[in-house]
Amino acid sequence: MKQKKLLYAGKAKSVYRTDEKGKLIVEFRDDITAFDGGKKDTLKNKGSYNAEVSAFFFEYLAKNGVKTHFLGMIDERHMAVRELEMIPLEVIVRNIAAGSIVRNYPFKEGMKLDPPVIVIDYKDDSRHDPMLNDDLIIALKLATPQDLKKIKKVALLVNALLVKILARQGITLVDFKIEFGKQGKTIYLGDEVSMDSMRLWDKKTGESLDKDVYRFEKGDVMETYNRVVQRITKKAKKP
Ligand code: C5P
Repeated sequence: MKQKKLLYAGKAKSVYRTDEKGKLIVEFRDDITAFDGGKKDTLKNKGSYNAEVSAFFFEYLAKNGVKTHFLGMIDERHMAVRELEMIPLEVIVRNIAAGSIVRNYPFKEGMKLDPPVIVIDYKDDSRHDPMLNDDLIIALKLATPQDLKKIKKVALLVNALLVKILARQGITLVDFKIEFGKQGKTIYLGDEVSMDSMRLWDKKTGESLDKDVYRFEKGDVMETYNRVVQRITKKAKKP
């Protein structure tokens, strides 16, 4: 597969056309951002860490019945994916109260949310990704009622599968954000599933093992990401 022209550059990934119809290449760059792009850095190896973990989770989810856009890795930071028409929703599943839900509502950090809470935000940086509800999603024609139902069902399945595999590594899945897209009538999990879009706590120590280390300067974020990649994929990776 040959990489062709740049289609789209986001805050941490770039998407390229290819010489094959219906297939794109996603480049995981070394850029890291937080707070709507208010904090930005470029950190060596960051792209390959996120690509490796995303590939690992996409393969695991696909084996367990989740349709994903993942087709395969081209190299450490380039992923071949199915071309999707992206749905501009940020689908967040929360198992434990942390982050914005604690800032915006009277939840205590660390409180278990059982059943898990799904929050759906409108993916629009210029509007600071405002929270939606089902009526707004339908009125804005962001998804049909049937697609919304399916998205929520798949999000909960992804949650259950991720909770299970991370628990085996001694990691608590606090929350995560995923995005979906369509090819024809079929909904696929798109984007990435990595430390940038999840909140992970060490089960024993409570240590943050995700982008919160960068957001709140809790330590060396690349040292943490490197450790998490090894822990999740169980493979040694050079620093
Ligand atoms: O900030 P908040 O607590 O709402 O984030 C919930 C989860 O969704 C976190 O794991 C965070 O990393 C992820 N998220 C994301 N991209 C956003 C907003 C949240 O990956 N734009």
